[in-house]
Amino acid sequence: MYAIGNDHSAIELKNIIKQHLESRGIEVKDFGTNSPESCNYAEYGEKVARAVASGECERGICICGTGVGISIAANKVNGIRACVCSEPFSAKLSKQHNDSNILCFGARVVGTELAKMIVDAWLDAEFEGGRHQKRIDYLKEIEKSNYPAANKPARRCKKEQ
Ligand code: RB5
Repeated sequence: MYAIGNDHSAIELKNIIKQHLESRGIEVKDFGTNSPESCNYAEYGEKVARAVASGECERGICICGTGVGISIAANKVNGIRACVCSEPFSAKLSKQHNDSNILCFGARVVGTELAKMIVDAWLDAEFEGGRHQKRIDYLKEIEKSNYPAANKPARRCKKEQ
């Protein structure tokens, strides 16, 4: 099962990509939005990211106007490697080298056919492991190093300094 999510600028492209995934035999869970009302891309990026990080969905696709905002939101969730790709080469390499688990692109940047090519390049690629695994492991270490900071008091009084 793949997760898909988008903001108001990308409903049409989301539906096309959803159909494209289904035509490849991939089951899709749509996290919205399906309303043309202006919304916050971060909410939908987070929903897709949490579904992928929890294992509910294998991987995900996020689309907003540029792909940028929704990728930033998705990357805030631990375990997520969301990549904005506006052409197939980066999409392929983002899987082979970075083990990207969320693919992002912009409905205001890429056309329908290019978007499908980007998706296909990403789906058809496999993570190569090897030297790239160490780098992914390092990314996980960075995430772990963020935990203690969350428990630190925001400010100390003068006596404690
Ligand atoms: C919405 O207008 C737009 O800001 C959003 O779709 C996206 O491009 C943000 O990165």
